[in-house]
Parts: sequence; structure tokens; C-alpha cells
Amino acid sequence: MKVLAMVGSLRQGSYNKLTLRAAIELKPVGMEIESADIGVLPLYDDDLREAGYPAPVQKLREQVHAADALLFVTPEYNYSVPGVLKDAIGWCSRPPDQPLDGKPAAIMGASTGRLGTARAQYHLRQTCVFVNVMPVNRPEVMLSGAAKLFDAEGRLTDEAARKFIGDLLVSLESWTKRLQNK
Ligand code: FNR
Repeated sequence: MKVLAMVGSLRQGSYNKLTLRAAIELKPVGMEIESADIGVLPLYDDDLREAGYPAPVQKLREQVHAADALLFVTPEYNYSVPGVLKDAIGWCSRPPDQPLDGKPAAIMGASTGRLGTARAQYHLRQTCVFVNVMPVNRPEVMLSGAAKLFDAEGRLTDEAARKFIGDLLVSLESWTKRLQNK
């Protein structure tokens, strides 16, 4: 099963990037997780779309098409989804052959605040309705106080968080098979 991850933070030491790293470590046997390079995308511009999707956008759209499922790993910026992730979704949401249509997905996020990206995740779920992405409901992986969850090497050491992430990926696997009728 091929899973394409999109991380909504571009910074080097991102806790969300480290959360994805933990997911790659904890994924079930038979699942592959590839990370999309959404930091190279231009800002969404419908004129660019009409002129022909720019190469990095085309690449992302092909990656989404080829994936069985998506994994969104998002920080919360000002109570919502960071623009970089919102734009990546925007680029993949337009015709022809809308790549996101019907894709199973999982959502997780890490924040230094107390609500663990809850508000951003619910905004993201709302966006999923319009683009017809189908996120698995449970478990919700909302990592709060992220600075305390990782060791000096960036490894996720919090046992509860590790279990949530592992359970989410198992849940994504069975949800994807269910949607694919396998
Ligand atoms: C934040 N942060 C933040 N945290 C939160 O819990 N709720 C929020 O609304 C916001 N808003 C916000 C806006 C902007 C522009 C920044 C840069 C940060 C703090 C955020 O959780 C923290 O910076 C995380 O470390 C960001 O994730 P990465 O970059 O570590 O993956």
C-alpha cells in the first residue's frame, strides 16, 4: 500500500516532520510512506493552471494519483491549516481528472500549544469534504506540547503518541482496503 505524506511545515527542525519520521518507523508491514516535496510548489495561481500546470505541481498531482492513500501531517497556524498545505491541496483539487477525488486519508499533527492542532485538523476535515478526500475518523492524533515529546536526536519518545500514530496507520490501512473494496 502506497501512502503519500504531505507535511505542512517547511522548517528544518519541524516537529511535524519528526512526527512523519515516527510514522515511517511505526507503519505496518506492507505500507510504504513517501513524503511529497510541497515546499517547491508556486503559490496557487489559476492563470498558471490555465497555462498548464507547472512541473512541480504536475509531479505532485501524479504522486497523488499513484498513491493508495494520503497522510496529512499538519501544524496549526493561527487556528488553521498552514498556507503551504492548503495550497498543495488547492493545486491537486482542480481539473482535469481531480487527483484527490475519493482518496482515503489520515490526519495527524503536532503543536507546541495545548490543543495539538485540533482546530487546524477540523478545518482540514472541512476542506476534505469539498475535494472529496475521505479521512479516517479515529484515532485522532493531536500531539500537544510537542517540544517535550522528542529526544535530542528528534526521535519521538512519548509512548502514548507512538501508540496513537501506529494505531492511526493500521486504521488507515483497513479504511483504504475498505474503500478499494479489497
Ligand atoms: C504557530 N503556532 C501555533 N500553535 C498552536 O497550537 N495554534 C496556533 O494557532 C498556532 N499558530 C501559529 C502560527 C504561526 C505562523 C506559527 C509559526 C506558529 C505554534 C506552532 O504550534 C509551533 O510553531 C510548531 O512548532 C509548528 O510546527 P513545526 O514547524 O514544528 O512542524
